[in-house]
Amino acid sequence: AFPLLVDCDTGIDDALALAYLACRQDVDVVGLVSSGGNVPAATVHRNNLALTGMLGLDAPVALGADRPLVEPPIFADDTHGPHGLGHAQVPAPARDEDPRSGAQLWVDLARERPGELVGLVLGPHTNLALALEIEPELPRLLRRLHVMGGAIHHRGNTGPTSEWNIAVDPEAAQQVLASFSAAPRRPVLGALQATEAIVFRAPELDRLEHLARRSVHPVARILADAVRFYFEFHEADGFGWTAHVHDPLVTAHAVTGDFAGTRPLAVDVELAGTLTRGQTVGDELGRWGREPNVDLLTEVAAEEFVEHLLATFEAGLD
Ligand code: BDR
Ligand code: CA
Repeated sequence: AFPLLVDCDTGIDDALALAYLACRQDVDVVGLVSSGGNVPAATVHRNNLALTGMLGLDAPVALGADRPLVEPPIFADDTHGPHGLGHAQVPAPARDEDPRSGAQLWVDLARERPGELVGLVLGPHTNLALALEIEPELPRLLRRLHVMGGAIHHRGNTGPTSEWNIAVDPEAAQQVLASFSAAPRRPVLGALQATEAIVFRAPELDRLEHLARRSVHPVARILADAVRFYFEFHEADGFGWTAHVHDPLVTAHAVTGDFAGTRPLAVDVELAGTLTRGQTVGDELGRWGREPNVDLLTEVAAEEFVEHLLATFEAGLD
């Protein structure tokens, strides 16, 4: 089992990703960073402490920054609910937080395991950018970085051209991409055109409901109630009775290497655009003359992955 550090803004699909990780034997979650994003960092932290406690993930959970590097924070209560987990009733955490900052946890865990730690960012990049200020060698200390973020040649889900995790803190995302161009292995970027292929429809919600009714695992009920809220949001947003399940695909690909291919691409973040701030721009024809700096997720095996995700919960949360 390889060591994984997860930096996330839990968040409904982040919770699905954490539950997935807890169900897998082939990955060892050695730390969590609670990032501000979908809801304030302190609320994410509460969710992460409660969920990791219930899931038996006993890794340190550190609180991240309470605001992006430059701009004031924005939140997505409409998408994830005011507490970040939709209709779920989440009990008070029964475990303590790690006293370190999220940025310091990144640095400490990477230094403890040079060349071994895999990083997984499922929220804004603020804490990883702050960690790079403490330890500029981080890209060379990590085994690899996997990121859910961006929209490459695809409409945004936050601004018309921007995706949430990048739009919340574009400077941080830009700095992370620039720093990791020195990494021995390109970061894997799961952007919207890949993650929006993962759609839950009524049968998937039914399976989660069924699991919640028959299972004694408290997280089964939390996932069903959270995902039902996610459906209500997507319906109100014009997508019908469905939900886009972003973070678990990037997570499962990081663990297994399956369910998607990758292709190298030079990508950068627009910081100045008056209409397009936070857009991730991909240079398909090499006009910038730069080396590719990400491996972009592509060719998603969507049906196979949705089945794998539900079956993992059914086997692991019983
Ligand atoms: C991303 O934004 C968040 O709301 C989700 O958790 C996911 O990480 C999708 O754009
Ligand atoms: Ca997220």
